[in-house]
Amino acid sequence: MKHLLSLEKLARSDMERILADAVVFKKERNRHGKLPLAGQTWALIFNKSSTRTRVSFEVGIRELGGQVLFLTANDIQIGRGEPIKDTARVLGRMIHGAVIRTYAQRDVEEFAQYSGVPTVNALTDDEHPCQVLSDIFTFQEKRGPIQSKVVTFIGDGACNMPISWMFAAAKLEFELRIAAPEHYQPSREWFDRVTKATDRPCLLEGGSHRSNGRIVVTDDLRKAATGADLLYTDVWVSMGKEAEAAERIKALSGYQINRALVKLAKPNALIMHCLPAYRGKEIDEDTFEANAQTIFDQAENRLHAQKSILSWLVS
Ligand code: CP
Ligand code: NVA
Repeated sequence: MKHLLSLEKLARSDMERILADAVVFKKERNRHGKLPLAGQTWALIFNKSSTRTRVSFEVGIRELGGQVLFLTANDIQIGRGEPIKDTARVLGRMIHGAVIRTYAQRDVEEFAQYSGVPTVNALTDDEHPCQVLSDIFTFQEKRGPIQSKVVTFIGDGACNMPISWMFAAAKLEFELRIAAPEHYQPSREWFDRVTKATDRPCLLEGGSHRSNGRIVVTDDLRKAATGADLLYTDVWVSMGKEAEAAERIKALSGYQINRALVKLAKPNALIMHCLPAYRGKEIDEDTFEANAQTIFDQAENRLHAQKSILSWLVS
């Protein structure tokens, strides 16, 4: 039984297969004859808001021949305290797969363990694996293999997006620079987990600048952006962190992708944002609009990459 619970647990060879097949799914959209989800019903269980992930999974499952049930936690008994493991054992007898967006990573893992059906992490507080796979697909579509390239993440370096990028960098062998104030940098635990997942030492020392040559964490965003192939950002206030909005906006102000920062990156650097975007905060309006083609290709590619993920899960 295959699951996509995190990039931490996804083997490099599986990542490479998903990325390669995404190219085919995109090229052959509306023409591919295979319907790997024919006769299947997949549940989308979402406990947080979503535009891109929900729509791309609903459309993708249908295009692969399957049917979709969209369930919010409030509509089902989970919202009234029914344990995940009971919900999983009930749904597992009826559905063929599940796509889950929630807070705790352990909830997705518990669902996978008890349901007995392929389970996808559609964003937790720890990781957003489908997004990063789609983003790498987008990068490679435009610039070729990501191996040995430099990806710079700017903003809240401790949220789900940079964590998934860390596992991707370690496994696919590109350089990841995370530029964030010290309090918003990934914890030591994440570095230890990257080391464990890849068998390569990952963190040399503490402080505001840490590096193992492949993953660099710094509070110096100009240094991090210099010579980058990709500048990437995400919201400063992730879902579930709304109560900290004021202090986050204060601490992260300045960690913005704007014209001055873009000038430091390689001349053909891509600028990406997983969306939704808050102009004037993590990215300025001009830079966002100047790179809208890439950013909305990135959003579209969620569909193609996730069809590849779904097809891999049931193969
Ligand atoms: N990027 C992303 O996951 O968007 P949604 O929250 O709209 O699904
Ligand atoms: N870090 C963001 C990603 C949104 C797609 C969040 O968790 O809200």
